[in-house]
Amino acid sequence: MDIAEDIKGFDHRAENHRVGAGCLWSSMREVPELPESGNYGGFRIATRYADVAKIATKFDLFSSASGISFPDLDFGTRMYPAEADPPVQREYRRMLSRFLTRERVALMEPSVRQHVVTLLDQFPADGPVDFFAAFARPLPVLVSLELFGFPLADAAMLDGLVVALHDERGNEKAMEAAVALTRYLENLLLSRKAVATDPDADILSSIVLSTIDGVPMTLDEQVAMLRLLLFGGFATVAIVLSTALHWFALHPDDMNRLRDDPGLMDSAIEEFVRFASPATYLKRTVTQDTVLGCTHLRQGERVLISFAAANRDPAKFEAPDEVRLDRQENNHLGFGIGVHRCIGSLVAKLELRTALEEILERYERVEIDPAGTLKWESGENQGIIALPLILHRRPPAGQVNHV
Ligand code: HEM
Repeated sequence: MDIAEDIKGFDHRAENHRVGAGCLWSSMREVPELPESGNYGGFRIATRYADVAKIATKFDLFSSASGISFPDLDFGTRMYPAEADPPVQREYRRMLSRFLTRERVALMEPSVRQHVVTLLDQFPADGPVDFFAAFARPLPVLVSLELFGFPLADAAMLDGLVVALHDERGNEKAMEAAVALTRYLENLLLSRKAVATDPDADILSSIVLSTIDGVPMTLDEQVAMLRLLLFGGFATVAIVLSTALHWFALHPDDMNRLRDDPGLMDSAIEEFVRFASPATYLKRTVTQDTVLGCTHLRQGERVLISFAAANRDPAKFEAPDEVRLDRQENNHLGFGIGVHRCIGSLVAKLELRTALEEILERYERVEIDPAGTLKWESGENQGIIALPLILHRRPPAGQVNHV
């Protein structure tokens, strides 16, 4: 198959798409026009950093209001604020953003650390563990549910529904999961509405009591907003964490370096987000005929923007396929850019920092279990979703290792 054929058949949902995506992105960046895939009714693909940043920033020309996924996850109601454009998008965003400020997120640290420690304590003393299933996925589920005011006892059930919805897209199992999730969220919202008095109390109260232009959100809209929060916070953090541990397994010197120099933690986290870029592809729809570089785009055309490809663009990043723990001026697009930039980025970074700190404290090195199987997710959120690891504990303080 030649490259033109590969591009024409480009399907981000194809199994293991992300594994070979780097080469495809490089070839696509060389094409002056935005290349076109023939799948899902046809769409353009943006992989150059400059194009992706421009499209994501110019929300008046590239709208999110017709949905951001391919094919559309049709729940009948858009997931606000992600699937809306300003000015209304800002109103929806405000309902959430005041609970995700630096000050508020800092208060979450003790409970996030407690979740980290509890999960790590459950690891087998010896022997392999699927790091994704045992730690990387449950951590953001627990942290998100606590943040949104959901009962933590429902974590596994809710996560199961979100996974089924995602994995079984379009089939009967997904429909069942969608119905069950909607019922659960409706009940939660209705019982909160019965007692809520202060929209500033927490996220759930804000959603049930806030108004847009003086009009309260419908129950469907409230459910859709919660659904977005669940989708946004689970897979993304989990994939970055697994990617970091995968990197450490292949580059033990970097694990030692980060342990020895905790001052690198902030830049390391940004770098792991850039490198993993779990929010890999998102859709935009052209609102009026537009010229972007060499490409004439017609009103109504769909463009898949790839934050992940932009983050590996050599025109923007030196050695983009390497993790550099001390990378400077790392203006990556892992959290997006512009009006939709990730609202939960501070929570995500808190989870990543506490998790890495505790792991570095406990474990000397990690290796990939040769008997296990590494798995990659396709679709909008891509990356490692099964990571069989063997973790080697650090010797107790004062003990000298003889080799
Ligand atoms: C490493 C973890 C994360 C990554 C890489 C990530 C990535 C992104 C990206 C790229 C966008 C922009 C979408 C667009 O342009 O259409 C976004 C938006 C969003 N994220 Fe995240 N995210 C992460 C964690 C979270 C968490 C923990 C939450 C919830 C607490 C969250 C909630 C949201 C929401 C609600 C939006 C929509 C904002 C808007 O449209 O105004 N994300 N995220």
